[in-house]
Amino acid sequence: MDIMKKVTVSTLAKRYASGEKLVMCTAYDAIQSRLCMSGGIDFLLVGDSVGMTHLGYENTLPVSMDDMLRHTAAVRRGAPEAFVVFDMPFMSYQESVEQALHNAGSAMKTTGADAVKLEGGAEYAGLIRQMTGAGIPVMGHIGLMPQRVQVAGGYKVVGRDDESAEKVLADALALQDAGVFAVVLECVPEALGERVTKALSIPTVGIGSGKYCSGQVQVICDLLGLMEFKPKHAKRYLEAGALVSDALKSYADEVRSGEFPTAENSFQ
Ligand code: KIV
Repeated sequence: MDIMKKVTVSTLAKRYASGEKLVMCTAYDAIQSRLCMSGGIDFLLVGDSVGMTHLGYENTLPVSMDDMLRHTAAVRRGAPEAFVVFDMPFMSYQESVEQALHNAGSAMKTTGADAVKLEGGAEYAGLIRQMTGAGIPVMGHIGLMPQRVQVAGGYKVVGRDDESAEKVLADALALQDAGVFAVVLECVPEALGERVTKALSIPTVGIGSGKYCSGQVQVICDLLGLMEFKPKHAKRYLEAGALVSDALKSYADEVRSGEFPTAENSFQ
């Protein structure tokens, strides 16, 4: 890999400083990371959303460190030049600073990830200081935090009232102060997304938080139509699910009718 082509924290900081919007997308395997890079995506998130997109779980809670390590290593193999963020799964950093440092360190060492992301606000400022002090770049994640779905009682927009809006802003500032290089802002009202973005000197990466964020992140399966469910914050750029089903139906029909394989697909 040409080291000059490698995307780093500095590349992202320069793009942000020059006013470019940052484009992030999730990827969960080598095919997807390759496609994301050929599509001009700036940086990749191996999200714990892999639990729903690839592992068949109802939410992200069952996702393990082993799941994340395997998928992140595959993403890295597919795109050596990409900036890859490893999403710390539920209960991989909440027990203690030692546990969090150990797991984040393993993620960086064994998968080649460039950074880790964790859900939480000011309560994790101390941990984030230790991580960045140890050389681990950290991305924050506030607003809707899917790992807290059981406490929140569902997936809801966060920050509609004054108190919760002030908390989102205070958390964003605390994360910036602790040293994160960017913050995911999930499902907050657009005006709050704008307010937080203006208050910070690091990028906000929005998902369902409106157009004023410094960049956007989306789940690749939502963009490509690989799953039936479409969240409000996502836009379909392709109906790949329907195209793939049609292609597989043609294959099945041709095998059954004897149309496939032909001489062209056979060895003499
Ligand atoms: O796991 C994930 O895909 C995420 C994004 C929705 C930001 O955390």
